[in-house]
Amino acid sequence: MKILIVGNGGREHAIAWKLSQSPRVTKLYCAPGNAGIAKQAECVDIKAEDINNICRFAKEKNIDMVVVGPEVPLSMGIVDALEKEGIQTFGPNKKCAQLEGSKAFTKAFLARHNIPTAGYREFTDKEELKKAVGIFGYPMVLKADGLAAGKGVVIAETETEALKAIEEMMGDKIFGSAGEKIVVEEFLTGIEASMLCFVDGNVIVPMESAQDYKRIFDGDKGPNTGGMGTYSPSLIFTEELADQIREKILEPTIKGFQKDGLDFKGVLFIGLMIGENGPKVIEFNNRFGDPETQSVLSRLDSDLLDIFEAVIHGTLSEQKIKWSDHKAVCVVLASEGYPGNYPKGRVISGLGHVDKDVIVFHAGTKFGTETDEKGQLPILTNGGRVLGVTATGITHEEARKKAFSNVEKIIFEGMQYRKDIGSIVKK
Ligand code: AMP
Ligand code: GLY
Repeated sequence: MKILIVGNGGREHAIAWKLSQSPRVTKLYCAPGNAGIAKQAECVDIKAEDINNICRFAKEKNIDMVVVGPEVPLSMGIVDALEKEGIQTFGPNKKCAQLEGSKAFTKAFLARHNIPTAGYREFTDKEELKKAVGIFGYPMVLKADGLAAGKGVVIAETETEALKAIEEMMGDKIFGSAGEKIVVEEFLTGIEASMLCFVDGNVIVPMESAQDYKRIFDGDKGPNTGGMGTYSPSLIFTEELADQIREKILEPTIKGFQKDGLDFKGVLFIGLMIGENGPKVIEFNNRFGDPETQSVLSRLDSDLLDIFEAVIHGTLSEQKIKWSDHKAVCVVLASEGYPGNYPKGRVISGLGHVDKDVIVFHAGTKFGTETDEKGQLPILTNGGRVLGVTATGITHEEARKKAFSNVEKIIFEGMQYRKDIGSIVKK
């Protein structure tokens, strides 16, 4: 089968790496891809949001399946466009993609189906919101309704901070049209965890759990990022908690999809807060997480293509999904300045010294244009998150040690990473 992956991050590299192991995959393309994905797939210079050209390319090359990584093209309706051309696609359609594309849509869904989540109110008028400042007390959680590259949530500690955020979101429009509607939520306390699930419209099947580290600095300090590392399985998922999540969240969610006519096919990523009153949903994403996917797929023993086909055909309940007992740790190497502004184009060295059984998933990399002294094109940084060094081991500790001893072999100017990824302190 000929497969086209859409996206250019570490998540898409992990998908390409896993799909390349399937005996039925004859050719992989990635639009636009990166310097690491180029090992498994032929990269084509089409942006993930350029739906017209992706459709044209997929038809021209007789692609058998398209796999969509990022949320933006999903929200734009890439799946509907490809399906209209008769090309089977892994990912939710535009209607279902609202589950990530609109916080208010998801909150209404959760409320309608009695799925535990924080209480909320939505606002489209700045003055009305200002009058309601502190309605749930402080900290006050303010969320831009639309997609804001993971930056649309403000947790204001005081009234002054909240009013400033309201002015920025609704007055200065820092999130553009994504901030025209604001969702205000109760502040939840507890331990955060993420759960990735395959959904085929009939059943919802959780993958192995993973724990993300969202803040930039060790000890969960500093600003939020897209994710600085993960380990899998997560240590907080006891059997009792998994049962509670199944009964209170997963089952009502799939039933709710069916009742509401949401034919969700793809990956549902559930952000959870595990607090005193049990698990609550913080958010839904409609795609694989990054860097959760790097840890989780490195532990998948089954053929990922079989799973993608079962999701598309609605036969997931017949699919046996096998996971390795090994543990995985993924450490993200980021550019200097990330998650703020960062330089691009710095030369990455040492990749050739990494152990054979350690996988370095590329997130923000590209090839340089001039060959080096060995006649090879150098690999350069090209994003905030640059690489994800992913190791597996019999224990978490073994995986962690292996990941960090290989991190030390990689060098680029200004490289930063968290040293506490996978350490058992973070439960
Ligand atoms: P979201 O994009 O909705 O996942 O929000 C980003 C981050 O903000 C989450 O990962 C949480 O750390 C935090 N957050 C979001 N909603 C709440 C809430 N209601 N209570 C406490 N923290 C929250
Ligand atoms: N790691 C969080 C996300 O993918 O949204």
